[in-house]
Amino acid sequence: MGYSNGEIVEVKGNKYKRILIDLTKEVLEEDILPILMNSLNDSGYFFNLNGDKLAFLFREIDLGNFKERIEKFKNFKKLYKILTELITKIEAIKSYGIKDGKRVYIDYDGERKVKGRRDKENHRGKFFYALHHKFKKDNNKLPAEFENKIICGDSEKVLKKLPDNCIDLIFTSPPYNFGLEYENHNDAIEWENYFTKLFSIFDECIRVLKYGGRIVINVQPLFSDYIPIHHIISKFFMDKGLIWKGEIIWEKHNYNCKYTAWGSWKSPSNPYLKYSWEFLEIFCKGSLKHEGETNVSDLTSDEFKEWVYAKWDIAPERNMEKWGHPAMFPEELARRVIKLFSFVGDVVLDPFNGVGTTTKVAKELKRRFVGIDISPEYCKKAKIRLSQGLSLFDSDSY
Ligand SMILES: C[S@@+](CC[C@H](N)C(=O)[O-])C[C@H]1O[C@@H](n2cnc3c(N)ncnc32)[C@H](O)[C@@H]1O
Repeated sequence: MGYSNGEIVEVKGNKYKRILIDLTKEVLEEDILPILMNSLNDSGYFFNLNGDKLAFLFREIDLGNFKERIEKFKNFKKLYKILTELITKIEAIKSYGIKDGKRVYIDYDGERKVKGRRDKENHRGKFFYALHHKFKKDNNKLPAEFENKIICGDSEKVLKKLPDNCIDLIFTSPPYNFGLEYENHNDAIEWENYFTKLFSIFDECIRVLKYGGRIVINVQPLFSDYIPIHHIISKFFMDKGLIWKGEIIWEKHNYNCKYTAWGSWKSPSNPYLKYSWEFLEIFCKGSLKHEGETNVSDLTSDEFKEWVYAKWDIAPERNMEKWGHPAMFPEELARRVIKLFSFVGDVVLDPFNGVGTTTKVAKELKRRFVGIDISPEYCKKAKIRLSQGLSLFDSDSY
């Protein structure tokens, strides 16, 4: 079955979104199509037969109700398959408004339309805060001695050994200063000292990042102490002239905090807000556009469509005890970031590599990698994870 997805057409003066479905001869010959077209319509949608194609036209739809209505075609297996695939296609269209429980696909944002948007954008300018940068445009190769290595040491010192502009993507999650029990790092220091150290490592990250490279920081603010680390970090990068590309909400669905926590119960005196998600802040050096050495993408169309919608539902890592690390992120998070923001063959760096989730996934996805962590114990485990089912890479200590 072939589909065309969601172009807007006009029928009797009304606009509709249209999904076109190629029909096989078997389905065309079934007598069920007229019944489908007569019974499965509504003021907001209808089917239309167009030669060997079935068109589904819709302005607004109650998807739950539509799903129930297609159940009566369950015995017509081929047609039913088409209808369930149609629902997947409708669900993939993310631009709609909600009105009276229906998804509204046409003119749902009419009231918000800005006239002369392009002119206004040109006049205002984009990312004004990043225009003062003086980043060099010439990129360098990563020296072979660092390629595919797990390096044990303080990132601030290790990164100084790398040339400028040699990394395509940095994906990392720094310690959050929550007071976790790390093997070789004090996670409860004065905030000023925390940010001084963090920013001296981030300064090195900016230097080694290629022009057009990206840095993606996974961070969870310390809500209980009212410290918005994600905003403080974002301001740092913007002040340094990086472009804030956007923010991904990593929804973990871990509702494990009491209702009152540090606030009040059923009273506006001091309600405490609860969060079950973390943030991924994304920055670009010099340009939003990234040129890789290979420019080979391994994203499927479904992955692309799903992942550019910037709220990712991913369960937290379940193997922290097994690896003896208190703050790992899950492989799926690294997989999405690496595939969405780097090409096959690119160099991926994690300067807080822990037990090596980023480097393991980067290797599996045929990226080159550099992983740095201050703990020898974690680095040892990161190497074990790299070698699982594959040959062990060399590693160096600094
Ligand atoms: C949040 S954890 C990262 C976990 C990692 N994403 C994973 O999945 O295993 C932060 C890591 O930063 C490391 N670290 C702290 N200070 C460091 C420094 N100055 N240089 C390098 N690594 C450091 C800690 O040892 C810890 O493993």
